[in-house]
Amino acid sequence: MTLRTVEWKNDSVVMIDQTKLPNKLVFVKYTDYNDVADAIRTLVVRGAPAIGVSGAFGIALAALQSSSKTIEGLLSDLEKAKKILFETRPTAVNLSWALEKIMKIAKQCKTVSEVKDAVIAKAKQMAEEDIKTNKEMGKNGAELFQDNDTIMTHCNAGALATVAYGTALGVIRATKESGKNIKVIATETRPIQQGSRLTAFELKHDGIDVTLIPDTAVGYTMANGLVNGVIVGADRILQTGHVFNKIGTYQIATMAKQHNIPFYVAAPLSTFDLESRPENVIIEQRNASEVTGIGDKKTAPDGIDVINPAFDITPPELISGIITENGVAKPPYEDSIKTLFEAN
Ligand code: MRU
Repeated sequence: MTLRTVEWKNDSVVMIDQTKLPNKLVFVKYTDYNDVADAIRTLVVRGAPAIGVSGAFGIALAALQSSSKTIEGLLSDLEKAKKILFETRPTAVNLSWALEKIMKIAKQCKTVSEVKDAVIAKAKQMAEEDIKTNKEMGKNGAELFQDNDTIMTHCNAGALATVAYGTALGVIRATKESGKNIKVIATETRPIQQGSRLTAFELKHDGIDVTLIPDTAVGYTMANGLVNGVIVGADRILQTGHVFNKIGTYQIATMAKQHNIPFYVAAPLSTFDLESRPENVIIEQRNASEVTGIGDKKTAPDGIDVINPAFDITPPELISGIITENGVAKPPYEDSIKTLFEAN
């Protein structure tokens, strides 16, 4: 049984508190959408698909919380909740994708009770679809890896970044399920260590062979022939094939190119933004304290200047393929991404 990151249970949202991992597996329960917004902001839940579904559940809570007797009043309460949820994290496009989708459903309803039922049903359906999509993506990606491969991954694009199963780790799971013997190298992923705290935890929990390395050992492991392929997730992918993902992805992709190692990205179609150009996407800048310390321990001098971007951009020329539920896009991406959407 893989972990279920976020779930709707008895008119509340239940999620794993990822800030407590790997030391404690704690579940938190929310009945107020403001708390869900806080949970997204503080990384209790993180990972593009997981925050998308959490946003949808946040709207479902807002519908239950609203005391409005009119449909106009209820929709205005939902718009207010949408704004608060939307402003939590700017880079992962799945959040706005999910919020837009659920608001569209709400606006098609005729009565207050219809809206409440419809948004809850839609949010639950989105959660189920996320798992289905990850499994389809897994099957498509499994064909790209060979028996006895060691695959490097960065950050956490696993069950914990989604509702369950995972995007990049979903491909790793599916490769293993197809009978191939594979090993994983997980980068630590400073500054908040999604690799050591979450990916290593999740893969060990699921019995998948995983070795942890510091981010600084990417070049060493590649140069010593310890890596056959790389797979990461994504927070946003543009029509041009530019991939926004956890800080450090760009340097891993560059190093993979240097060593002729294929570099793949796995993400659902809900992670694509076909409108924006790279320079228009906001890269979330996070608190300096994430860099000046580890946990409660200070590891840098007081008052030091810090740059702490949460994401970077990997250009298309470094990417061997983008795995989706509709197939694998190969360069040139402008054309292949268009074809994936036409198949939708
Ligand atoms: O800041 P996070 O932990 O929300 O960032 C998540 C990532 O960047 C992951 O690597 C991921 O690929 C996107 S979610 C599948």
